Amino acid sequence: MTTQRHLVAALTGRGPLPAGWPDAVAAVDRALFVPEVFEGHDFTADPESWLRAVYADAPVVTQVNDGEDTPDGAFRLATSSSSMPSIMLDMLDLLDVQDGHRVLEIGTGTGYHAAWLCHRLGDSKVTSVEFDPTVLAGALDNLRRAGFRPTAVPGDGRHGHRQGAPYDRIICTCTMRDIPSAWLEQCPDGRIVTPWGSSFFSGSFVTLEVRNGAAQGAFSGYPAFMWDRTRRAGAGRVTDLYSGEKGKRSTTDIPPQHVIQDAPAFFTGLSVGDAWYRWCADGSDEATLWFFSDDGASWATVEYTPDAATYEVEQYGPRALWDEVRGAFLRWHGLGQPERSRFGLSADRDGQRVWLDDPRNVVGRP
Ligand SMILES: C[S@@+](CC[C@H](N)C(=O)[O-])C[C@H]1O[C@@H](n2cnc3c(N)ncnc32)[C@H](O)[C@@H]1O
Repeated sequence: MTTQRHLVAALTGRGPLPAGWPDAVAAVDRALFVPEVFEGHDFTADPESWLRAVYADAPVVTQVNDGEDTPDGAFRLATSSSSMPSIMLDMLDLLDVQDGHRVLEIGTGTGYHAAWLCHRLGDSKVTSVEFDPTVLAGALDNLRRAGFRPTAVPGDGRHGHRQGAPYDRIICTCTMRDIPSAWLEQCPDGRIVTPWGSSFFSGSFVTLEVRNGAAQGAFSGYPAFMWDRTRRAGAGRVTDLYSGEKGKRSTTDIPPQHVIQDAPAFFTGLSVGDAWYRWCADGSDEATLWFFSDDGASWATVEYTPDAATYEVEQYGPRALWDEVRGAFLRWHGLGQPERSRFGLSADRDGQRVWLDDPRNVVGRP
């Protein structure tokens, strides 16, 4: 499994590649975009394992904790990567790129995805913005080695890149909480695809058709991208975040695993967008569902025991996080338990709105 052909075989094994992209996928060697040392792999020490990781249909994490020195055993937050190739192809499929299009990419990362765009469209049609200047410098080297010279600039991708506008397409490879107004100005008639969500639920693409600077579109997919660096969610290990405080106790009859299923979690994220959860199981049948506010000041737990009629709840801090989640869950029930695919997003000069079935039926303004 150690050449680009193997990666192509892994990708085509899932089904045909999206039209317009097979040549780029076959021609651009992912190994040119991956450093000799990355999370858990060192080319010099074990070239076979390095090559297997590079040519697998899996993400390759190239930076943790914004590149800061991280002591052994400390929490490692992935902050840059070469994304999972099949997920990038899913995004390109949603993006519906046509020959001749001008494309803006947010989040250059290693440059691998920008290289696909350059191969298909030509360097002059591709602009990419990366927040981290060190990451960008690496991407520029990689792209040059592979023979590509797109416009790749440092900056906060929320501002787009005005000098290259207008764009026909914007593709973003970090998770956004909202659709920046600059994107609508710089892609006033086209399409935008981005991972979108809240701290509570970030596993969704939104695909937006933009007409005269107003965007509308649907949620889909199950992406797991890193956050827009300017608006991250809280993260960490429970053992690092909890230091033995005692909270207020109560019980609930809602099985905790129900609130973190796809659709209710998505809906809860519309109103509880600045808190996140972790399901902690210890190998037995029992588990604890933890909730943390992004600011770390509040937490809640719900204890899961199989076949129980009620579940122990504990809530600590200025916010009653379980009460907030429970309220959102009951509102989602009240709407008839709609699947995520029935929701859509509108974004324009007035901000963003999430609706159910029809843009006039607004259910959230996250
Ligand atoms: C998943 S990685 C990019 C993967 C890349 N497309 C590739 O194939 O190598 C996400 C990148 O988004 C960048 N990023 C995060 N927030 C950003 C922002 N506000 N503006 C620009 N880039 C950002 C991160 O630094 C990271 O390099």
